[in-house]
Amino acid sequence: MICLGIESTAHTLGIGIVDSNGNILANEKKSFFPDEGIHPREAAVHHTNHAVELVAAALLTAKISVHDIDLISFSQGPGLSPSLKVGAVVARTLALGLKKPILGVNHCIAHIEIGKLKTAVKDPIIVYASGGNTQIIGFTGGKYRVFGETLDIGIGNMIDKFARKVGLGNPGGPIIEKIAKKGKYIDMPYSIKGMDMSFSGLLTFAADSFLIKKEKIEDVCYSLQHNAYSMLVEVTERALSHTGKNEVLLTGGVAASKIFQGVLGTMCSERGAKFNVVPANVAGDNGAMIAWLGLIEYKAGRRQEINETEPDPKWRTDEVEIGY
Ligand code: ATP
Ligand code: FE2
Repeated sequence: MICLGIESTAHTLGIGIVDSNGNILANEKKSFFPDEGIHPREAAVHHTNHAVELVAAALLTAKISVHDIDLISFSQGPGLSPSLKVGAVVARTLALGLKKPILGVNHCIAHIEIGKLKTAVKDPIIVYASGGNTQIIGFTGGKYRVFGETLDIGIGNMIDKFARKVGLGNPGGPIIEKIAKKGKYIDMPYSIKGMDMSFSGLLTFAADSFLIKKEKIEDVCYSLQHNAYSMLVEVTERALSHTGKNEVLLTGGVAASKIFQGVLGTMCSERGAKFNVVPANVAGDNGAMIAWLGLIEYKAGRRQEINETEPDPKWRTDEVEIGY
């Protein structure tokens, strides 16, 4: 069985083609990186403009005809409403035109399942760190439960906003990581409430113009990164301890950070837990992860009618019934 998956939750439009053995036949994407933050409507226009070309490119890469596709899946949420709508329309058009089944899947679960496919983990604590989302997750009682999460902005968006505010460019994650290499620690906010984290105070503190003039930029980058990643490490360690699980899976766009991989990996090895990171080529938003989750759910018997495919911008990880 072959599935074409459509990702369009935020700034990336992705078209992936995956078979039921988990082989990724194609994973084409185009991202919209404005100098300022993403305007949802502009992201939707970007996705509309590139949808046809990306579907064609994915079919070419996969070396298959559109008629070889057995299933269409798409990100139904969470995400920016105008962007999600573009993905849903492309999915419905393909499904109705080709007379193939359609399945809207949860974007966050897709980040988890692609990580499970590409690593050897079985029952991990999942550190899902991306632009819009930051959650520490574990599977219990038929659902992926959120043990801890950000109370305000996602860690990636926090880093990106900081980079834009101080004029370092976009996306900030990789840029900050490079600059921070030569930095040393200066005191900054570190905010954990119970098992939840807050990043907006850290952002306000670090991007303050007075601080930026006073301190070296490499020290500010280092400390911002240090505190943000340390908060996630602390909550992850507590989740391991509460649940007794002994594996960690790092997934989402921020999983590409070598520094973050390093600190999380060190905590795991000190506790005797196995540490796994999703490969960089499927860490950020992509269509292959959506196609793979579509295949898993279809095989497990989930079906959807066209009138059930309306996007849900606030669809939470822990609302999804896991039927596989
Ligand atoms: P979601 O919808 O799941 O919240 P997203 O739309 O933000 O995802 P992703 O591609 O999953 O998209 O993640 C993008 C984030 O990853 C950006 O904030 C970017 O700065 C960050 N990122 C990418 N590479 C690195 C890196 N090397 N170090 C740190 N952060 C990185
Ligand atoms: Fe994502």
